[in-house]
Amino acid sequence: MNEIRAAVLSGTATSQDYANLPLPDSYRAVTVHADEVGMFEGQTTWEKDPRKSLHLDEVALPELGPGEALVAVMASAINYNTVWTSIFEPVPTFAFLRKYGRLSELTKRHDLPYHILGSDLAGVVLRTGPGVNKWKAGDEVVAHCLSVELEDAAGHNDTMLDPEQRIWGFETNFGGLAEIALVKTNQLMPKPDHLTWEEAASPGLVNSTAYRQLVSRNGAGMKQGDVVLIWGASGGLGSYATQYALNGGAIPVCVVSSPQKAEICRAMGAELIIDRNAEEYRFWSDPQTQNPKEWQRFGARIRELTGGEDPDIVFEHPGRETFGASVYVARRGGTIVTCASTSGFQHEYDNRYLWMNLKRIVGSHFANYREAWEANRLIQKGMIHPTLSRSYSLENAGQAAFDVHRNLHQGKVGVLCLAPGEGLGVRDAALRDRHRSEIDRFRDV
Ligand SMILES: NC(=O)c1ccc[n+]([C@@H]2O[C@H](COP(=O)([O-])OP(=O)(O)OC[C@H]3O[C@@H](n4cnc5c(N)ncnc54)[C@H](OP(=O)(O)O)[C@@H]3O)[C@@H](O)[C@H]2O)c1
Repeated sequence: MNEIRAAVLSGTATSQDYANLPLPDSYRAVTVHADEVGMFEGQTTWEKDPRKSLHLDEVALPELGPGEALVAVMASAINYNTVWTSIFEPVPTFAFLRKYGRLSELTKRHDLPYHILGSDLAGVVLRTGPGVNKWKAGDEVVAHCLSVELEDAAGHNDTMLDPEQRIWGFETNFGGLAEIALVKTNQLMPKPDHLTWEEAASPGLVNSTAYRQLVSRNGAGMKQGDVVLIWGASGGLGSYATQYALNGGAIPVCVVSSPQKAEICRAMGAELIIDRNAEEYRFWSDPQTQNPKEWQRFGARIRELTGGEDPDIVFEHPGRETFGASVYVARRGGTIVTCASTSGFQHEYDNRYLWMNLKRIVGSHFANYREAWEANRLIQKGMIHPTLSRSYSLENAGQAAFDVHRNLHQGKVGVLCLAPGEGLGVRDAALRDRHRSEIDRFRDV
């Protein structure tokens, strides 16, 4: 592993050098264990602690199949899906691995008593499997997390519609929170040259998701001038949604929960900000009953900020706690676009506001191949920026997931895998210098 790391750090190793490097039989990876899925029984979601369930194990190198690559992972990032896996909610992810394992001889590899997590990476290709022409050993890459088999016509227009669609490192094994990862090569994209390893690893999943959800015609199809209400506007998804709204000439209304988060949104260029904590919205009077008066108060606040306009688009992901309010405040004919339910997936809303006002609810999930590529291209061009606030070592991935679970973080939290420290891997210093303040905006806040 040290030779691999040294080759990457040299910055001069050729494709042939990488091809000549022997691969280790095993590597270190962040895992959950199948025999521990009951460890949090009786605890609330809040009490379940990822630091107890996430392990750093030495695991066997998986066999490389056709159309796949083994990648030396320099850095990865925490996504909320790692939090879900680590607390075994809503279901233990071993069920996904078992199902995938039944698909073919090759996918059997994924069905193991440990699950290697992580749906982002930046690193260097070590080996490619049979049938791969576009990528070779030595290529510096990031990987998006869409794993599809592409055998069914249903997914040929929009790869997210493939019936065998999975999120790598969540519904498959051999994820990015590790020293080596196994990916399908059509997950690979060029690493943005102006970013460090940890910066490059951090946007992938949330950036692509926000792009489809907000910008793509498969999502809300945002246009210039749209008022976009963004929940968690400085969080993982929200920090990209806010950038897309500003880049695309829309008017973001950013919802956050602290003055620091409001300040970050202001620094991104947003002007209309609601601190949901300070303004004490209570959309639920008790766990079963919503309070429409609070929806109205929230809607009135949005109008106050926008000069009387309602949101054309509501960028939803908190779910149960906010969904009733989101449906209420969207404008007549507006769109509520949702990709998640962090606070609970049984949503309740008053349907009269939806049908009488011709609103629509759109479901969105990750991004298809093309959308992921387009979202990465915007990062490469310095038009959308990483929102990395801090990075942890692989040993401390549990703490990193804990921070995200407890909403103690800003933007994205990175994890250094083979990278011995932060700040390495920049190949285009000039482009970096042009965007330094935007790249550093979330740092250490
Ligand atoms: N379907 C997909 O493809 C996809 C992709 C990415 C993520 N997701 C899901 O989307 C959700 C968010 O992911 P993320 O990476 O953005 O997480 P994140 O970094 O934790 O950001 C979410 C933000 O939402 C806000 N929030 C949380 N609970 C809330 C509540 N009850 N009411 C109002 N606001 C709340 C918080 O911001 P404030 O405290 O500042 O308000 C939080 O920072 C997760 O459930 C994740 O699994 C789905």
